[in-house]
Amino acid sequence: MADHIAPPAGSAMAEPGFLWGVATASYQIEGAIDVDGRLPSIWDTFSATPGKTLGGDTGEHACEHYTRWADDVDLIAGLGVDAYRLSIAWPRVMHADGTPNPQGFDFYRRLLARLGAHGVQRYVTLYHWDLPQHLEDRGGWLNRDTAYRFADYAALVARELSGLVEGWMTLNEPWCSAFLGYGNGHHAPGLADPRFATQAMHHLLLGHGLALEAIRANDPGTPCGIVANVGRGTSDSADPADQEAARLYELQHNDWVLQPLLAGSYPTDLWDKLWPGSAPLVLPGDMDVIRRPLDFLGINYYFHSNLHSDGATGFRDVPLEGVERTQMGWEVCPQGLEDLLRRFKAVYPNLPPIYITENGMASDDTVVDGRVDDTQRQSYLKRHFAAVSRAMDAGVEVRGYFVWSLMDNFEWAFGYERRFGLVHVDYGTQVRTLKDSALAFQSFLQQRRAAATPAALTTRGDKP
Ligand code: FCB
Repeated sequence: MADHIAPPAGSAMAEPGFLWGVATASYQIEGAIDVDGRLPSIWDTFSATPGKTLGGDTGEHACEHYTRWADDVDLIAGLGVDAYRLSIAWPRVMHADGTPNPQGFDFYRRLLARLGAHGVQRYVTLYHWDLPQHLEDRGGWLNRDTAYRFADYAALVARELSGLVEGWMTLNEPWCSAFLGYGNGHHAPGLADPRFATQAMHHLLLGHGLALEAIRANDPGTPCGIVANVGRGTSDSADPADQEAARLYELQHNDWVLQPLLAGSYPTDLWDKLWPGSAPLVLPGDMDVIRRPLDFLGINYYFHSNLHSDGATGFRDVPLEGVERTQMGWEVCPQGLEDLLRRFKAVYPNLPPIYITENGMASDDTVVDGRVDDTQRQSYLKRHFAAVSRAMDAGVEVRGYFVWSLMDNFEWAFGYERRFGLVHVDYGTQVRTLKDSALAFQSFLQQRRAAATPAALTTRGDKP
């Protein structure tokens, strides 16, 4: 039987006020891409293009969550989590003319209501990468108008789902949308030019700022934030050029997003050094929209990279030998999460309260006699919990932690091969099996509940 995955004894993370959850995203689990009026998204187009995803996998069926949602909600509740982070599929809920699609909203209303009935708080991301294809056909995030269309969508969703959501998140990982989508082409829509990436980023962040206002106007009082992926980059070389490479890596991965959001400016080394000539077009007033105060910041963290200079103005990844890695090849480095949280607090004095909105790992999990032995995941999570706990001891305000992911799902360009779930999914039968990590997490959550006083537990439902 699995050991507990628990934060260190005495950690504030074990207190009832700390929010524990699991996370997913619409395109990665829902399937049902062409029912009930759902429009095509850029990920339908991209994944159906030969050579773009491992094995040609697409989100056409995924975890069939669109039909299995009620059982999945019961599964989530059964884990004993406080909260569930999910995303809304823009192409499911909004017609091309901007009017609501009632069938799409019915789905999310039922889902959110059932979560609420189980006492599970709902943290909802508006954009986890499934842009309607009709907007991409007009330039996608390269077109400034998309930022305004996103704000319209945010207003609509906040209005329709008001009262069913405890926390809103505008964008998931704008770095991935901008850089992987428009900078190197590894993600939809598959364009590859750093000038596109910086312009797409600007429009994404502008859309975020506009959406914050739209959400606050349509669902007043519900906290709103954004989710940024962050990466730890250092160099094993003392050569100043390699040290500079590591600095530029972190600038590109972290401050490209955090500095505009929290300080209202871009780190201009991006276009002065890394990608000469790639400065985006920024109109007067844009940065004030982008830096609107956040109620919280979501942080997604997975790995560390070792950097050397590329011999010119950039950096290259030089994988370390003999370090622990996951099925993704990502270097496991819990300390990196503590280091980043402490650095963000030092660099950005107005850092809002943090939720770890994603952390987890992929492994090649199989069901043997009804059981999935995923020892590495348990150890990975336990060490990352401890890293966050240390950051909290150092004064960083972290309010919650969502494990990525509830269940195995469509891992973007890597298709179904990479398994990030606490719950195993057999894609042939759609049978869900709790991995040992899920059982260990469940057991920690049960013990925490049992130890809490009834008075403390009632505060769990409070909004942050
Ligand atoms: C993040 C994404 C999430 C998942 C994890 C592994 O970048 O937000 O959807 O793919 O990585």
